[in-house]
Amino acid sequence: MKVCIVGASGKLGKYMVKHALDRDYEVAGVCRGQSVAKLDAFKGRITVIPGATNDSEVIRKAVAGCDGVLTVLVPWGVHGYSSGTAQAVLDHASPGARLVFSCGWHITLDGQDAYSRKFKWTVGAAGWLGRLLRAVDINDQVEACRRVFASDTRWTVVRGSDLEKGESQGLPVWSPHVGDPILKSNITRRVDFALFMVEALENDELIHEAPAIVGCRTPSAVAHAATVGPATDH
Ligand SMILES: NC(=O)c1ccc[n+]([C@@H]2O[C@H](COP(=O)([O-])OP(=O)(O)OC[C@H]3O[C@@H](n4cnc5c(N)ncnc54)[C@H](OP(=O)(O)O)[C@@H]3O)[C@@H](O)[C@H]2O)c1
Repeated sequence: MKVCIVGASGKLGKYMVKHALDRDYEVAGVCRGQSVAKLDAFKGRITVIPGATNDSEVIRKAVAGCDGVLTVLVPWGVHGYSSGTAQAVLDHASPGARLVFSCGWHITLDGQDAYSRKFKWTVGAAGWLGRLLRAVDINDQVEACRRVFASDTRWTVVRGSDLEKGESQGLPVWSPHVGDPILKSNITRRVDFALFMVEALENDELIHEAPAIVGCRTPSAVAHAATVGPATDH
């Protein structure tokens, strides 16, 4: 399997590179020119394509011949970075390729997520401050996901909870809707977020799903498993 990792030099991206190499996948990674050195640990084992992830030509070259594309969607700046990145992947990925995108719980597929007041306030405040400083545009990540959901590609949008450092605890569990009790702990190891993304490439049950994930050893996941059996999925 050949995979392209778009946003390979970030924290999530580097973990995804490692998981993909562990599976003997051939890996091409896209990252900004100034970040290429962040991938030195993988030198000789991956192909690095330097460039902005919303540059259509960069993505066209990077995804050529790939069976899967893992995309880190981040809403940097106020000029459509996230939607531009998603659009470039949707436009150029090979027909039939598995496309897996990352985002947070704030994205909703069907409007059936139940957010706490605190969560809504935090997202609202972060969005307002991000736009004020012209640093981040959360609405553009919403637009990016809208385009993915509307596409006729084989997509999965993985919605991360709050993230933390630390060793892997195993594959996160998931639910289609934020607000479900299994997700209550709202914390996932970043290394396991990456694991879920890479595993999704070969899990066709996740096609056209937007799984909201949480660490498999968190109290809410463990409590769920105790009531319904092993929590391997929602
Ligand atoms: N609490 C959380 O952080 C949280 C919670 C839920 C979900 N998520 C999701 O997790 C994913 C990212 O997580 P992460 O931990 O990997 O973040 P990260 O390490 O900050 O990396 C994000 C990506 O953004 C790029 N980047 C940074 N500054 C940029 C700029 N000014 N212009 C363009 N690109 C820039 C990085 O590339 P360089 O290496 O070139 O800097 C990297 O590819 C996103 O999909 C996010 O929605 C995060």
